[in-house]
Amino acid sequence: MTSPNDKSPEQKQGAPDPQQIIRRDDVSSGTAAPTGNGLLDRVKAVLAEPNDSTHKTLAVALIMCLACSIVVAGAAVMLRPMQETNAALDRKRNILAVAGLLQPGEDIEKAFANVTQRMVDLDTGAFTDELDGVAYVQYVAARDPALSEAIPKDQDIAGIGRRARYAEVYLVGNQNDFTQIILPVHGLGLWSTLYGFVSLDSDLKTIEGLKFYDQKETPGLGGEVDNPNWRAKWKGKLAYDESGEVRIQVIKGVVDENSSAAAYQVDGLAGASLTSRGVSQLLRYWLDEQGFGTFLENLRQQGA
Ligand SMILES: Cc1cc2nc3c(=O)[nH]c(=O)nc-3n(C[C@H](O)[C@H](O)[C@H](O)COP(=O)(O)O)c2cc1C
Repeated sequence: MTSPNDKSPEQKQGAPDPQQIIRRDDVSSGTAAPTGNGLLDRVKAVLAEPNDSTHKTLAVALIMCLACSIVVAGAAVMLRPMQETNAALDRKRNILAVAGLLQPGEDIEKAFANVTQRMVDLDTGAFTDELDGVAYVQYVAARDPALSEAIPKDQDIAGIGRRARYAEVYLVGNQNDFTQIILPVHGLGLWSTLYGFVSLDSDLKTIEGLKFYDQKETPGLGGEVDNPNWRAKWKGKLAYDESGEVRIQVIKGVVDENSSAAAYQVDGLAGASLTSRGVSQLLRYWLDEQGFGTFLENLRQQGA
């Protein structure tokens, strides 16, 4: 008599138990033959399950997620150089626009060929070559304690918290002979920090243009800083008076052209007094001693 627990000599030597094989095939619905590749076999087995199986639903969702992440990550990596090129081109477009040098349809690189980019040390007020070859982004540097300083609260009229030590400026022409100098400026409006450029004539006090390239004020209210009609009001206004004091200001309402201060004033944005005030304050900060004031004064002394 043999009992069910008795094993044949092959089973005793470690041969696979046929019942075990049947049980494993049961799990995979008996349709996928094992290939020896563990994970792939399991995936195949799960995908072979009926469509209403929870395992299959989860597996399909997971596979879709993985495939999409690979596509998105691949696209991000491949498109990065193109994004960087476009960002640099956009910066040049804004610089040319604030200087009034961008004609419709004109090639940006060609128009920018006459613009010289230089780095300024705001502490010393001098041009510097210290950061040559370094990829420098002013707003990133402003977060780095090694490259920036905190602005005392009572002096932070632009509401920016910290000021980077170095800033990139752009000269239409070259360092010794230029028709305009374009300075980066930024400061708090009502809802957002406004980033832009102000362009000064070679007399270093007459404004050629003001343009913000990044702001999140309310469209139709503070967002009117981007309105070409409002931007046109800046050309020819004086940033400084004869004594060198920063006088430029966005006023509430419309400028009285007969007023002695009219040359330093720009019409306020209707219904957006707080954004208007922000623009006045940020210009005052960046044109004064803490910003580019010392640098501009040095240029004046050199008889620019
Ligand atoms: C939805 C909404 C959005 C606004 N957006 C702005 C804005 O972008 N800039 C601004 O200065 N004021 C904005 N204001 C108006 C300000 O809240 C505030 O009333 C105004 O700046 C004060 O102007 P006033 O001194 O001329 O009254 C907004 C108001 C509302 C209700």
